[in-house]
Amino acid sequence: MRVRAVPSLLILSTVAIIFGTTASYLASPSATVSAHQVTQPIPTPASDEEARAFADKLIRKMTLAEKLGQMTQIPLNYPTNPAADVQARNGDVGSFLFITEAAEINRLQHVAVEQSRLHIPLLFGFDVIHGFRTIYPVPIAMAASWDPAVPEKAQSMAAREARATGIQWTFAPMVDIARDPRWGRMMEGAGEDPFLGSRMAEAQVKGFQGDDLASPDHIMACVKHFAGYGAASGGRDYEESNISDEQLWNVYFPPFHAALEAGAGSLMSAYMDLNGVPATGNRFLLHDVLRDDWNFRGMVVSDWSSVQSLTTHGFAKDNADAAVRAVNAGVDMEMTSTTFRDTLPAALKDGAVTEATLNNAVRDILVAKYKLGLFKNPYSDPSKAAAQMVTPEQRATARKIATRTAVLLRDENNLLPLSANAKSIALIGPLADSKPDIMGSWSLAGHPSDSVTVLEGMRARFGASHIHYTKGVEIEREQPSIFDPQFSSPKPTMKTDAERNAEFHHAIDLVKKSDVAVLVLGELQSMSGERASRSSLDLPGQQEQLLEAAVATGKPVVLVLLNARPLNITWASTHVPAILEAWYPGTEGGNAIADVLSGDANPGGKLPFAWPVTIGQIPINYARNLTQIPEAPDTRYWDGTSAPLYPFGYGLSYSTFTTTNLRIAEPTVHAGSTLQVSIDVQNTSNRPGDEVVQLYTHQRAGSASRPVRELKGFLRVSLQPHETRTIGLPLHTKDLGFWSPQTHHWSMEPGTFDLWVGSDETATNHTTFDLLP
Ligand code: NOJ
Repeated sequence: MRVRAVPSLLILSTVAIIFGTTASYLASPSATVSAHQVTQPIPTPASDEEARAFADKLIRKMTLAEKLGQMTQIPLNYPTNPAADVQARNGDVGSFLFITEAAEINRLQHVAVEQSRLHIPLLFGFDVIHGFRTIYPVPIAMAASWDPAVPEKAQSMAAREARATGIQWTFAPMVDIARDPRWGRMMEGAGEDPFLGSRMAEAQVKGFQGDDLASPDHIMACVKHFAGYGAASGGRDYEESNISDEQLWNVYFPPFHAALEAGAGSLMSAYMDLNGVPATGNRFLLHDVLRDDWNFRGMVVSDWSSVQSLTTHGFAKDNADAAVRAVNAGVDMEMTSTTFRDTLPAALKDGAVTEATLNNAVRDILVAKYKLGLFKNPYSDPSKAAAQMVTPEQRATARKIATRTAVLLRDENNLLPLSANAKSIALIGPLADSKPDIMGSWSLAGHPSDSVTVLEGMRARFGASHIHYTKGVEIEREQPSIFDPQFSSPKPTMKTDAERNAEFHHAIDLVKKSDVAVLVLGELQSMSGERASRSSLDLPGQQEQLLEAAVATGKPVVLVLLNARPLNITWASTHVPAILEAWYPGTEGGNAIADVLSGDANPGGKLPFAWPVTIGQIPINYARNLTQIPEAPDTRYWDGTSAPLYPFGYGLSYSTFTTTNLRIAEPTVHAGSTLQVSIDVQNTSNRPGDEVVQLYTHQRAGSASRPVRELKGFLRVSLQPHETRTIGLPLHTKDLGFWSPQTHHWSMEPGTFDLWVGSDETATNHTTFDLLP
């Protein structure tokens, strides 16, 4: 009999394995479970063999229509259409997505299990991206924590709420590497780096799935979008991606592989063309890489209508051809469009698909349902669902996590934390009191009314009479968002120029009358996410003018950014004394921001991307190859710098740190073993705080040129005032391997490597080592 482990211990051991040793902040009383849960037995997770044997037995009884039903996923909104009952009863559907009403989910499950011929349970899927009802910081923010315990914890809390509602499957984590911030979906991933992205991907899978998919508080993960979606041409959502093999294997694939190695039960094919072949009909991706090379045995779902879209791409000649190409490439379940159900019977007759291919697809789906325990426990308990939403534990965790994700970009003369003497604070900005906007995109099951705005958080922390709030300006998305009907930001209320001028001047008057001004600027939640690409990175609307006018008053100004991509803050970076990147911090965001501004929490997050000076620098990722004139990499443009505004891995703290005394255990290391790297980190301030120690390498010569620096290790450590600690950073030689565009194979090439350790990608503690065969 196995015994459920205490989550905080699990987290501690995970951190220790990945990074050596550190105490995770999540080992706090609020994150532990009660004694009876600790000793409660849980069943052993179903093995692959057991699940496959079960599925095969069932497949032998299934008609073709029932098989194609399992391979079909239908979107469903509440109130449901009577057609949903008919489909569930007839076995015409294997999965519904989007429905989030606990009672209705359970009712439909009863129809499927009790009234369908083979009693096969339904799979209910939903985009649990950064929380279900309680919203956590957006994924790019969680990556900025540089602490895998953060996304693991957040996703495990999200899984609890989702499963209590009857949802057993999330379409997350999104692990697409994004190096172009014009692409709105950068918010859903972990940024530009494959090493950081891989650690965040596996942490999320562990959080969602736990040790056993059948447990009542976990859900199946779906790693998406396979592959290359983040390289959309021009940053335009849905546009084709053209990625070299070298970049695919070394940059875009690794987070997918890491998520699958961590046990992700399913994977989603992407929408777009990858190098001329649509990802959903791409046998190289879905079969050669996924099944043959990586040996993935889970389930593959298409993206929304992406099977039918194979015709739009100019790839399939009609729906029937689209279905054949997708299923033969390796798609098991079709999301939204119904070409499988409608056309595959004829294709089977013609021999365009085989019975064995269909059985393989159905097996993957039934195995997932079996592992989720649905054949034994298909139902949830709707009467208990409501009590499990937005609990004090969820709120406390969300608040703590949001303080862990904040990145301090600038703090001249220690303007932050705000002085206890600040008697009057002007709180200005269109995002300072918006409940949906603090949550961020993909918060579809979240209730804006649950969320705490910056205004509410600041009033609670500093006292309402000390906070003087007004919007100053309003912002609006020029084209509507696809999510507007379900989840939208408040509409502008000031209609005339006179109203807008008066409000602008009112805001500046408030700044003049206050000791300090906090401007909460950025983007509406609908300005990033799906179909939220931009051709400019400027602060939307009149926000830049408002900021400059506030600074012109001579009062100290703090800029708090709510957004999920680097914006143009080049002027602010030299004129605004304090800048805090708060992202979309979620339900408890306003409280968390007040915690950070007041100094109750000390920011320690770091950027998961390089922040450009101008949009013309894109892409500006740090891990690029140096070519001609390597001593002048920052002067590639004659009209400006080619260095970023803030480098990858950058972030300040109210504490200050030094990193010294870099050592390696041996000057050589054999392939297959681990090089022990250590460094002394000192908190040189009077305040406890966190530093993220980062390790980068560079291969000096080999069968192909390698990036000037690549992240290969990191550790977020908490240090007491003036504490010095020696940090161990194990460098696994497997992480020095790469896919060589010369040999078309993975290689680990003996030779000399540079190694740097420090607090961002410009780290200066340097040594070298030799990799031996
Ligand atoms: C389309 C999106 O691309 C995908 O990420 C999402 O999971 C599905 N829609 C379902 O909402």
